[in-house]
Amino acid sequence: MATKLKNSGAGLWRHSLNTANLTLMLVELLPPGVLDVRREELYTAALLHDIGKIKLEQGLLSKSGPLTPDEWLAIRRHPPLGVAIVRQMDPETPAGIIGSILYHHERWDGKGYFGLAGADIPVGARVLAVADALDAMISNRPYRPRLSWEEALAEIERNAGTQFDPDLAAGAARYLHNIVETRFRTAASCL
Ligand SMILES: [Fe+2]
Repeated sequence: MATKLKNSGAGLWRHSLNTANLTLMLVELLPPGVLDVRREELYTAALLHDIGKIKLEQGLLSKSGPLTPDEWLAIRRHPPLGVAIVRQMDPETPAGIIGSILYHHERWDGKGYFGLAGADIPVGARVLAVADALDAMISNRPYRPRLSWEEALAEIERNAGTQFDPDLAAGAARYLHNIVETRFRTAASCL
């Protein structure tokens, strides 16, 4: 499946790797016993979360202008399409991987793709949603330039409790802010 992603273009593969690595970092912020999926399954799900996009018309993903309602509907099909691909490759795919892929676009306020809200969203999918959004924001997209880490973390904080699990978003912003600060301080002291 990794080959399918790599062949689909450098952008999707890079985003998949970055999201998976961020997911592993963020999972460490959860209180013990809260995670409802095994770590290695969540890492796999994060690597494959957007694999359904390879079934979409590629022009849709690189479109720089606003999407039409029909185009939005097509884009929203990528989580179930991804689950179908994963199940086709391995019918025994663990439920934790399936749930994390299927619900990675749910929002805490229930306004996501399937309308799950709050605690009804699998915890793994909530972590994946924050990691996915972070990497998307710090990457150049056809419709906007990349944000800085500081700007992206401010967005995560601003959307805590609406788009994102509030505790997770606040913890992620605090934790990554500290890492970014330390990196910059270390880099500056080496000059
Ligand atoms: Fe996605």
